[in-house]
Amino acid sequence: MSRALFSPFTIKDVTLKNRIVMSPMCMYSAMNRNGFLEDFHFTHYISRAAGQVGLIILEATAVTPQGRISDQDLGIWDDQHIEKLAKLNVQIKKYGAKTGIQLAHAGRKATVDGDIYAPSAIPFDENMKTPKEMTKEDIHFTINAFQDAAKRAKKAGFDIIEIHGAHGYLINEFLSPLTNARKDEYGGSLEKRYRFLKEVIQAVKEVWEGPLYVRVSANDYHPEGLTVTDYVQYAKWMKEDGVDLIDVSSGAVVPAKIDVYPGYQVRYAETIRNLANIQTGAVGMITSGLQAEEILKNNRADLIFVGRELLRNPYWPYAAAKELNTEITPPVQYERGWNF
Ligand code: FNR
Repeated sequence: MSRALFSPFTIKDVTLKNRIVMSPMCMYSAMNRNGFLEDFHFTHYISRAAGQVGLIILEATAVTPQGRISDQDLGIWDDQHIEKLAKLNVQIKKYGAKTGIQLAHAGRKATVDGDIYAPSAIPFDENMKTPKEMTKEDIHFTINAFQDAAKRAKKAGFDIIEIHGAHGYLINEFLSPLTNARKDEYGGSLEKRYRFLKEVIQAVKEVWEGPLYVRVSANDYHPEGLTVTDYVQYAKWMKEDGVDLIDVSSGAVVPAKIDVYPGYQVRYAETIRNLANIQTGAVGMITSGLQAEEILKNNRADLIFVGRELLRNPYWPYAAAKELNTEITPPVQYERGWNF
């Protein structure tokens, strides 16, 4: 029986074999403190590829050292990062998965030594450093860093780039009025707050022809913050600017209480998909094949991003296939024993 979860998905010349995406998840395991992949990362990502995930998106990977959440984040700010990333890509692809990388800058949520940077000098909370308000020069430097990172991602052989515009990190801080109090062309109206992301997208697209995703937080969960209605407008602009898919998360812009339940963010992916007419990914407590199938078949999203369930079970796609009473092809090494 044909199942939407196991149907291919093509954007540009990249075809995913199914709709299951490993959601980007920081492992804080670059113990070298210089952004380089370690053995752990190879085991971690390749096992999900053997588990038949269609697209593996590497965790938030910093475009500058000051843009790291912690000093154990992965980095792509230096050409020297390319070699190991390229090796990882080759190994993941042996199992038929495609690869993506989430390009990130932590903004005011960075916990590294030295100054940290944000659109405005407003700290996340009383335990965090107060960031420096970015000058125009800082802004241009950071946009260039995203572009250089995209060039390196291409050299390393990634199929997809995802720009991290969610969870209260730098790009999200420009988008939200709660974190952006600028009076120049990068703050004020919705359109002006979009400008930084727009310029990042343009800079990336100058050097990257492949599929481009952006992850957003579609609700600030704050009375003066953004809601999904604002993100429908942002998504329309992103579509005009050449973004292919919006990966729809929510929250973490300011401290806020979030009611978390199965599929709690799916309605945002659905609203953006249907009102901005752009493809979306749904994420957040999606843990079963049936739940994923419901989302896809009802046209609520185009891809299913799975986070913690894939930490619990790297082979989750096999379980989802079984639940949906369908077959998936295992790696050749497993095939002989498959029907026992
Ligand atoms: C995350 N999440 C996350 N999101 C993101 O955009 N970039 C990241 O690097 C991380 N890092 C991260 C680390 C860990 C350990 C977890 C558990 C989560 C969020 C993640 O991608 C996903 O959106 C949420 O976990 C919700 O989906 P699940 O886990 O309910 O499927």
